[in-house]
Amino acid sequence: MSAPVLSSLVNHQVRLASRPVGMPTRENWHFTTEAVAEPEDGGVLLQTLALSLDPAMRGWMNEGRSYIPPVAIDEVMRAGGVGRVIASKSPQFAVGDTVSAGFGVQQYLRLAPGEFKRNGIFKIDLRMGSLTQWLNVLGMPGMTGYFGLMDVGQPQAGETVVVSGAAGAVGQTVGQMAKIKGCRVVGIAGGQAKCDWVVQELGFDACIDYKAGPSAVREGLKAHCPKGVDIYFDNVGGEILDTVLARINRKARIVICGAISQYNATTAVAGPKNYLSLLVNRARMEGIVVFDYADRYHLAIAEMASYLKDGRMKSKEDVVQGLEHFPEALLKLFNGENFGKLVLEVAPT
Ligand SMILES: NC(=O)c1ccc[n+]([C@@H]2O[C@H](COP(=O)([O-])OP(=O)(O)OC[C@H]3O[C@@H](n4cnc5c(N)ncnc54)[C@H](OP(=O)(O)O)[C@@H]3O)[C@@H](O)[C@H]2O)c1
Repeated sequence: MSAPVLSSLVNHQVRLASRPVGMPTRENWHFTTEAVAEPEDGGVLLQTLALSLDPAMRGWMNEGRSYIPPVAIDEVMRAGGVGRVIASKSPQFAVGDTVSAGFGVQQYLRLAPGEFKRNGIFKIDLRMGSLTQWLNVLGMPGMTGYFGLMDVGQPQAGETVVVSGAAGAVGQTVGQMAKIKGCRVVGIAGGQAKCDWVVQELGFDACIDYKAGPSAVREGLKAHCPKGVDIYFDNVGGEILDTVLARINRKARIVICGAISQYNATTAVAGPKNYLSLLVNRARMEGIVVFDYADRYHLAIAEMASYLKDGRMKSKEDVVQGLEHFPEALLKLFNGENFGKLVLEVAPT
């Protein structure tokens, strides 16, 4: 591979222009360019190949405290991704290495050695999984599903696990891991195509199309969870959470991973009405933030890479091409248009 002439490269970037109210629009972003510079001593210059588009991005656009500070106005939008080292003055990275890093929504990232740890850059091994699988099952969503299910949910063989957002990035990992652990798995997803895929391709026992009618989830749980629900892995919050709470078993575990049904709400977030079901059933509800497990990612990656290799696990990604399409691509997460982990390809891989 011949090294690019760095001075000829232009870095196209997407920055946050304003904070959205409700669903983001193109006006919330602005597009900028910058010259690309040599890395400093000990640093690296990276080229973005593909970015992970995540529901959490909507929260980072808001003002206010969360588990991570908001993206500032005019800052390059935060995004994890995978890419290639194209110039290196670091003994840790060589030109041509493939890495996972906090790239941001831009084509190039220059990192000083003092920024490596905070950025979270690490080398990835493409023999363990493809570039896009490193954003999915072997990446942040996969880690979320794995630790949320295994550490918080603590599945036992024979238990019934229900997961919402079943055909999405986190959901596909959760359902497949729960099957591997010997559980009965029932997904909840929007539309017949997604439901068919999780049952026929991923081996879920059943899947409920929550868009099929106002009582679809209630009726579906009754039909497909005859022994009640032991673990509910919640990716969506709202009414679906309430409906599942009404069917939990004694000592059930509710893993609060996300509440995508609430992320664009312009009124106060709706909490669960059926929370007293936790009392009656001596159950618990616990949140998970994936970054808390960073020191154990390598263990989950090794385990899930072995399942990808032996065919026990599959991984589906939905790839949109072109940095310029970031604003519209992000919206696919909130209208359910993504089928699998949503990835933005920034450069040909
Ligand atoms: N706690 C953590 O550390 C952590 C880390 C990563 C992700 N998460 C959370 O995990 C959840 C899933 O994330 P992901 O990356 O795997 O996204 P994803 O499931 O791949 O994509 C989002 C999906 O959410 C569903 N959805 C959108 N609006 C909905 C609504 N109003 N009601 C029900 N479902 C709706 C859509 O699927 P349908 O077509 O099925 O509706 C959409 O495809 C999100 O809540 C995210 O914030 C949490």
